[in-house]
Amino acid sequence: MIEVTVNGQKHSWDGDPALPLLWYLRDEAGLTGTKFGCGAALCGACTVHVDGEAARSCITAMSAVAGTKITTIEGLDPHGNHPVQKAWREANVPQCGYCQAGQIMQASALLQQNPHPSREEIRDTMAGNICRCGCYQRIETAVHLASTGT
Ligand code: FES
Ligand code: FES
Repeated sequence: MIEVTVNGQKHSWDGDPALPLLWYLRDEAGLTGTKFGCGAALCGACTVHVDGEAARSCITAMSAVAGTKITTIEGLDPHGNHPVQKAWREANVPQCGYCQAGQIMQASALLQQNPHPSREEIRDTMAGNICRCGCYQRIETAVHLASTGT
């Protein structure tokens, strides 16, 4: 039996320990905010926090997260008002929206570890999160806004 805490709630999984966390979250826990893009750690759409660190849930087996605390986009803030989410609205970041949960989870993990990243640090950290709509400039602007509290 694998025990995990997801968005503050205890979960138990007695199925395949090799099941990717992404599919546990979406299909078993009903948390569909986390998206499937590539399935190979190449796009960042599936990014969640595992013990506060950004992780690609598509390649993270349930066995690897036993005993951890997982946060998904649904659990980042109860009212969608995390500073990164507010900055995202301020900068009108999303286009189609598909990549955005992963982008926000990556950005919020960055700011948790480095509250005032340089523009270069923002670009470096966000480089692994692909946006096929090309919202990269607004993403960088929003992360900077969130980091300055404006
Ligand atoms: S779906 Fe996980 S990185 Fe692309
Ligand atoms: S907003 Fe469409 S993929 Fe990023």
